[in-house]
Order: sequence, then structure tokens, then C-alpha cells
Amino acid sequence: MKTKILEINPKKIDLAKIRIAAEEIKKGKLVAFPTETVYGLGVDALNKKAVAKIFQAKERPFNDPLIAHIADIKELYRLCKQVPPVALKLAKAFWPGPLTLVLKKSELVSGIVTAGLDTVAVRMPADNIALSLIREAKTPIAAPSANLFGKTSPTTAQHVVDDLGGKIEMIIDGGKTKVGVESTVLDVTVDPIRVLRAGGISVEKLKEVINQVKISKELEEGFRSPGMLNSHYSPQAKLILVEKKGDAQVEEIRRLASKYIAQGLKVGIMATEENQNKYDRIEVKVIGKGTELEICAANLFAILRSFDKEGFEIIIAEGLKEHDLGLAIMERLRKAAAPK
Ligand code: TXA
Ligand code: MG
Repeated sequence: MKTKILEINPKKIDLAKIRIAAEEIKKGKLVAFPTETVYGLGVDALNKKAVAKIFQAKERPFNDPLIAHIADIKELYRLCKQVPPVALKLAKAFWPGPLTLVLKKSELVSGIVTAGLDTVAVRMPADNIALSLIREAKTPIAAPSANLFGKTSPTTAQHVVDDLGGKIEMIIDGGKTKVGVESTVLDVTVDPIRVLRAGGISVEKLKEVINQVKISKELEEGFRSPGMLNSHYSPQAKLILVEKKGDAQVEEIRRLASKYIAQGLKVGIMATEENQNKYDRIEVKVIGKGTELEICAANLFAILRSFDKEGFEIIIAEGLKEHDLGLAIMERLRKAAAPK
């Protein structure tokens, strides 16, 4: 299959082009598109056969449920059996935006979207291309991140081409995504509300709107959200995350780097700007200032992918602060560093 690439300027949306992509969605085809977080691989969420193709293209197991993307809050009532007041409050506060709400599903939503669960994940993305596409397709769009299963999520159209070129009908190229990590997934069917995946909306921001939020334990999380344990955000290289502070962190990274270099391996370091000059003669890629976590989040996946493209065998990453977007970054780095 030849994958068509459709370039669309996000600042000046060409509706004729959006309609071409929307026609593909209506026909049950796969269209990758930008959102504010990462690129998604979209299909008509109400077309079961089309949804099945997502799992095939991504080589993703069927036990990993998908997010339904909507452009109008009214759709929430079509897709969900109940919308508790707190869900509406959160939707009003953060949509469109990088927040996914898990709610009891309605009859309309097929089990293939939800991996057989009685809940459905819904979000309204804050991206004009994504919103126009959903509106023109006149259907909710089910979309996981547009990467091969287990790989880091794509933040550019080129990343999508690298993983899914030749396997899907179309990719809308709308440039680099803004947030760079996926949406925060929030289970609002439980009390207190639970964060199943840290993401683009920080826990600090959530707490400005709701009193109590619980962050679920890794294992519980995996159980309630089957996809989360086996999604590894893995680069091909072996990733080592060093979570020490200050000088101890730098020293540990130097020690590890020397060890692997002595074994003849190609070693790279992902460092904050503040530390970039502390690793003489070892290749460093800068994620951003350690104090600018939004910028670090936006760069994270692209840097991991670029290490792979350049044939690095070992990536040693500095751990970052865990407040604000740092929590989402660290969750992903820990998974990427976990033994496979
Ligand atoms: O930012 C994002 O969320 C991106 C863009 C494209 O919107 N999408 C994304 O989708 O990251 P995906 O499929 O890669 O991750 C969705 C996560 C998975 O970990 C899945 O397990 C969880 O959401 N999820 C989906 N439905 C769920 C449900 N009913 N209950 C619990 N977790 C669910
Ligand atoms: Mg994903």
C-alpha cells in the first residue's frame, strides 16, 4: 500500500484537504493525524471492522483499549452511559486538551474499542486539524498513538512514516506536536478519581479543579488499564535511567558511560541543558532546561527516536524532577528503562 501524505498548515487549515482525509475515515480507512499531544492513528470509532485494522497495523494486542476522540461535548453523552457531574466539570475545565476521561460506556461503543471493558476512554483534542477532521468525518474517531506497538509515540509525521509507512492509507502532516507526551488518563468511575496514566495535564492542574486525585500503583494500573503495563515506550537502544541527584547523578552517568564505552558500545546521554558540558567526550543530546519541564516533554520522544536513527546502543538518561510535566516524563522513562 502506498501511504498518502497530506500536508496541512495548522495555522491556516485547508478544509478541502481535511475533507479528503475525512472521506477516508468514512470509508473505514486508517488516517494518522496530529493532535496537541502526539500523532494518532484514526479510524471511525463506530466501525468495528475499521477499528480492528488499527490493532493489525500497530501490531497491538486486542487487550489494549482505545481512546475515542470527539469534537463536541454532546458526543460524550452518546458514547457514555453516565456522565457524573465531576466528569463534566473536568471536561469543561480541560477540553479541548490533553485529558482523557474513562467513563461507563454506552451501547453504541463496541467492545473492540474498549478491549471488552464496560468503560470507554474519551477525549477532545486541542488541535485544529484533529478537531476539523472529527467534525468533517461526522463520527467519533478512535485513535491510539500512531506508532508501532511498544515504541515511543510519534511527535512528527516523519516518525509515523518510519513506523507505519506502507501500512496505512494516509498521514496528515501538521508539523511537530506541541505537548509531546500523551494525554493524562483519568478514571472517573471510581472515588477518589484515579490517574491511570500521567500526561499532558499535570496532577497539580487537576487538583485546582477537583479535591482528591489518587495516582494508581503501577500494578493496579496495569490491571485496570491492560495496555499500560505492556506499553514500553522503547527505543531500540538499551535505556538506563539514572535517578540520583546533583553531582552524584553526573558521576554515576559518567561511570556507566565509561563502562559501556570500554565494551565497544555506542553510548549517548540524554541530559539537561545545565549538565550538558559535564560529560566530556561522550555524545550528549539536550532534552531542555531541567526547570522547563514542558519543553523537556515536547522533546522527549523525538530525542529517543534520534538516538535510534543514529545507531546508539546505550542511552543513559538523567532523571528529571517529578512535579508538573516531569511526572509524565519520568513515567515514560521508567517504562522505557524497565527490563523487557
Ligand atoms: O494523547 C493521547 O492520549 C494520544 C492521542 C493520539 O490522543 N493517544 C494515545 O492513545 O496515547 P494510546 O492508545 O496510545 O493510549 C491510550 C491509553 C492506553 O494506555 C489504554 O490502556 C488507556 O488509554 N485506555 C483506553 N481505554 C481505557 C479504558 N476504558 N479504561 C482504562 N484505560 C483505558
Ligand atoms: Mg500509545
